[in-house]
This record gives sequence, structure tokens and C-alpha cells, in this order.
Amino acid sequence: MKKNIKTIGVLTSGGDAPGMNAAIRAVVRTGAYYGLKVMGVKRGYNGLINGDFIEMPPRSVSDILQRGGTILQTARCLDFKTPEGVKKAYDIAKVFGLDGLIVIGGDGSFRGAKDLCEIGLPTIALPGTIDNDINCSEYTVGYDTCLNTVIDAVDKIRDTAASHERCSVVEVMGRGAGYIAINAAIACGADVVLVPESKWSFDDDVLRPILESKSRGKKHSIIIVAEGIGGVIEIAKEIQEKTGIESRATILGHVQRGGSPSVRDRVIASQMGARSVELLLEGKSNRIVCIQNGQIVDVDIEEGLNMTKTLPQEMIKLAKKLTV
Ligand code: ADP
Ligand code: F6P
Repeated sequence: MKKNIKTIGVLTSGGDAPGMNAAIRAVVRTGAYYGLKVMGVKRGYNGLINGDFIEMPPRSVSDILQRGGTILQTARCLDFKTPEGVKKAYDIAKVFGLDGLIVIGGDGSFRGAKDLCEIGLPTIALPGTIDNDINCSEYTVGYDTCLNTVIDAVDKIRDTAASHERCSVVEVMGRGAGYIAINAAIACGADVVLVPESKWSFDDDVLRPILESKSRGKKHSIIIVAEGIGGVIEIAKEIQEKTGIESRATILGHVQRGGSPSVRDRVIASQMGARSVELLLEGKSNRIVCIQNGQIVDVDIEEGLNMTKTLPQEMIKLAKKLTV
């Protein structure tokens, strides 16, 4: 372990995710374990630019492991996207004596972490987003809790869809990625799933499966649509017009981002938070802490963001097979 790291910062940036608090707690407690001073930076990169820091002794993170959201608050900071903003953030970090910074967020936040590193502040990026869309990592903190929220909601929608013999079209989050959609579809037994990673046509991939399942005796259907496809209100309307089946659209929205983190999110956030601090102490910087082959590893930020991660096509095939 290197001895020249004495003070570190931690911030959350971009969309919040359940488990971010568990990651903050792990950073603070691991820092304390190694005798470091830990500073919390409020509201993502805004707090870095404005000097909105709080000292975080070990007891400051009591009772947060089970709470959704982020006690440090989060934000999207436009100023930080300019070289002047990054320089200002760097200067403020130096005023507060930061020897390293841990950034919990998604790929946008990681680009910011890379920029800071390039002008001299060691940074470690920790994947915290419900979307599971960080290319170098099999998993992002918040994804499991989000999926559990989604399946709970869709199960409830199914109750009413079944009672009314309707078709329910449900939009789930995921930005440009279909991980939430495909897993929710399999876990909820959806009749149709539409994801941005796979081409689809209304007639072949929506209409036909609904009509076929109706002819097999199904009285209601569930369609899961990824946010990257969108248009659920129009899709529901068209289904009703073309099939005569009464249809309703639901956009699940921000309910998917809240709630107490699952065991998986608490444990992975704790592992990643602790590892992030150790990486700084080992003198490493510009790294993403991630999961590959089930193990916690770290990769260069730029390389990690440029890796490819593909939604397994077998999952899409499986979702279709199981609707027979
Ligand atoms: P996420 O981190 O969840 O992908 P955003 O893309 O909104 O969320 O990014 C969060 C913040 O990270 C932005 O508000 C901005 O301050 C910073 N950021 C985003 N993209 C970049 C970039 N290309 N370069 C530097 N900073 C960025
Ligand atoms: O990245 C997380 C996420 O919830 C995406 O799934 C979604 O596209 C976006 O953030 C929504 O952002 P906002 O909270 O700004 O509406």
C-alpha cells in the first residue's frame, strides 16, 4: 500500500441507483480502516466545482446501507463538460486536499473521472446505474433492485390485465439498453418484448404473437417495451385498433430507481466501494472497478468504456420460446 494518499473524496453522479449508499458507506468505512480522511462531495460534479464538501467519519454513514437514493445527492452538471469546468473542479479538489476521488455513476460520469485524472487528480470509477449498461462490467449497482421493482409492478399489472382480459403494454427504463426489458420479460412471462438491440416490426413481432396467443386460449397479454424503443401509448392504441383487444399502456418511470437495495446490490456495492479505496492506496488511477467472470477486477476507464457488451440474443429467443 502506498502512503501518499491521505485524503480521498467520493461523489455520486448521473441518475441515482439503489445501492449507491452502500457503496458510499463502503468507501467511508474502508477509508477509515486504512486511516484516511474521507470527504463527501455533494451533488456530483456540481459539488466539486462549488466546493460543496462534507467530512465523512465512519459514523456519518450509519443506517444508510438499506436506503435507496444517495445521501450525497446527485446531479447532471453541464459546466463540468467544459475544460474550464474540469480545471475548476481540479483546483477545488486541491484546495480540500484530495489525493484521489471515487466517482459512483454511469458512463457519462466516468468520462468526467477520466478528464480529472488527465489533469492530475487520481480517480476510480464505480458503476452505479440501474441500466446495467457499462460495457466492461457484467453488473452495475442498482440493476437487481430495479428488476425486482419492475417484476413486482408487472405482476400487479398482470392481475388487472387478466381481470379485464386486456393487453398491457409496459415501458421500462434502460436508456439505450434493453437489459432491464429482456430480463423483466423473462421473469414476468411477457408475450412480447421489444429492445433496441433487436430489429422488430409491428406486424411480425407484436400483432402476430398477440393473435397467436389469443388463438391458443390466452385471455390477456403483457408486452414489455424498453425505453429505447418508447412509444407505448401508440403501440397500445394500434394493438387495440388492429385486434379489437382492449389495450392499456403504462410507463413505469422513476419508481424503478427507488427502494431499499437488494442483497445483491448491497454486497456488490460494498465490494466495489472497498476495492476502489484499495486501488487508490495501491497508486492506481483512471480505473473502472467492474465485474468480469464473476470477479471484481479493474480496467482502464477509456478501454472499459470502449469494450463491447451485447445483449445475449439467446435471451430474446428464450423469451419468445416460453410464450408457446
Ligand atoms: P451517467 O453518469 O449516469 O451516464 P450522465 O451522462 O448524465 O449520467 O453524466 C453525469 C455527469 O457526468 C454529467 O452531468 C457531466 O457532469 C459528466 N459528464 C457526462 N459526460 C461527460 C463527458 N463526455 N465528459 C466529461 N464529463 C461528462
Ligand atoms: O440512467 C438511469 C436512467 O434512469 C435511465 O434508465 C433513464 O433513461 C434516465 O436515467 C432517466 O433520467 P431522469 O432521471 O433525468 O429522468
